Amino acid sequence: MNTSLDILIVDDDPQMRSALEATVRQLGCQVTMATNGEEALQKLHKQNFDLVISDMRMPVMNGEELLRAIHETYKNLPVVMVTAYGTINQAVEAMRLGAYDFITKPFSFEDIEGLLSRINKKTVSNSTTSVSSNNEVKKLSKDSVAIVTNDNSMKELLEIITHVASSSASVLIQGESGTGKELIAKLLHSANRTVTGPFVAVNCAALPENLLESELFGHEKGSFTGASQTRIGKFEQADGGTLLLDEITEMPLSLQAKLLRVLQEREIDRVGGSKPIPVQVRIVATTNRPMEEFVKKGEFREDLYYRLNVIPIYIPALRDRKNDIKLLAEYFVKRFSEGEITRLDTTLVNEIEAYNWPGNIRELQNACERAVLLSSAGGGFSKTLEAKHFFMKQASKQSTLASNIEIKAGLSVADGEKLLIFETLKATSNNRTKAAELLGISIRTLRNKLHEYGQVVDSTEGTESDNLS
Ligand SMILES: Nc1ncnc2c1ncn2[C@@H]1O[C@H](COP(=O)(O)OP(=O)(O)OP(=O)(O)O)[C@@H](O)[C@H]1O
Ligand SMILES: [Mg+2]
Repeated sequence: MNTSLDILIVDDDPQMRSALEATVRQLGCQVTMATNGEEALQKLHKQNFDLVISDMRMPVMNGEELLRAIHETYKNLPVVMVTAYGTINQAVEAMRLGAYDFITKPFSFEDIEGLLSRINKKTVSNSTTSVSSNNEVKKLSKDSVAIVTNDNSMKELLEIITHVASSSASVLIQGESGTGKELIAKLLHSANRTVTGPFVAVNCAALPENLLESELFGHEKGSFTGASQTRIGKFEQADGGTLLLDEITEMPLSLQAKLLRVLQEREIDRVGGSKPIPVQVRIVATTNRPMEEFVKKGEFREDLYYRLNVIPIYIPALRDRKNDIKLLAEYFVKRFSEGEITRLDTTLVNEIEAYNWPGNIRELQNACERAVLLSSAGGGFSKTLEAKHFFMKQASKQSTLASNIEIKAGLSVADGEKLLIFETLKATSNNRTKAAELLGISIRTLRNKLHEYGQVVDSTEGTESDNLS
């Protein structure tokens, strides 16, 4: 490898310093050493460097403090942090602060080689190596990937993404179905200022093992029956870009071993191929399953989990982002009505905010699309979308209601029934026809029950037409 980078190594441990020094010299780089942060800053004032590799834990000035100090003066200088095995939090913190990458102790020759070749590619292809500022990502997110949110935990998450987008570290995105994992993966790609390749996605659950292997790594002509032509896999397609490995827990164990090798060596073997092919791909994996349980049960390799989970991202469920429900609904409704519908009426807002959205943003998006269609059924839109256009699906209605009722052990069946009836009436704004329909009982039975509870029975049952509206 023709690197010849000028590297400053900062470490208080003489053994680590010399191990690193030997490796990078072997790779053709010039090395300067500093035993602590202050010394490092002095050396940086005197000489230009292409890269700083610094230990995280040092006396006097720790790695984080040094990183901050460097970025105050040398914004574009990549800093790589060395962290101890198992201290993922530290590494993530360093990435958040704008470290270019990190390596974990103990590291191999290949780890350093891979790192330097990435830095080298980057300095050749793009001389600006600074991490993009918040404003830039917000702008990018508006231009290419629209992420609508007003929720604090989401804003924090977007901030982390700003900082880590341009690094090559793997990202594991966890979150329930429909929370926006793929959208975040795309944002990671579009906010990465160093990419030269495309965003490519593979769903690990969609294919049986042998097909998935050839999908990922490609195959040589004649390597198996049906392989009539050499085919490039997704890794090669994504070279220089981002590879999304969707539903990663569904990857069979034997393929997990192969994937681990690829992540370590940064090269792939086509099925039936005879020589490895180098690839530079940023891996983003997603899952909506409890990953750690898969690891505990032995269904997912622990070492691969750590490799992928370098930057962990958890997307909160929509029901935990109450601030976002109305905002997103308005956004979708406006979009689907092409700007015709601009408001949601208050009853509707209350209803959607009370619902627990098990399908998260995808479910909300679909509900909005359906509601917009229904609201225009009579021809033309009104400016305000009303509750009657939402939740036309029985299943959705029932779950809306279920989410509002707290059933506790110790409650009698009769009391449970009463509670359910009153909650249903509340949710239907006292429309008895609608309530009876939801409860799966006749209006007569509902009326009798209410009579039993001492409720005055009057004629407020909804008419056929408001029931269907
Ligand atoms: N914050 C958001 N702003 C706007 N649209 C969003 C937002 N989050 C998600 N969406 C939209 O919701 C839909 C679902 O998102 P996405 O496909 O990214 O979810 P996912 O977590 O990958 O789901 P699954 O687990 O089912 O694969 C997409 O159409 C996406 O564009
Ligand atoms: Mg997805």
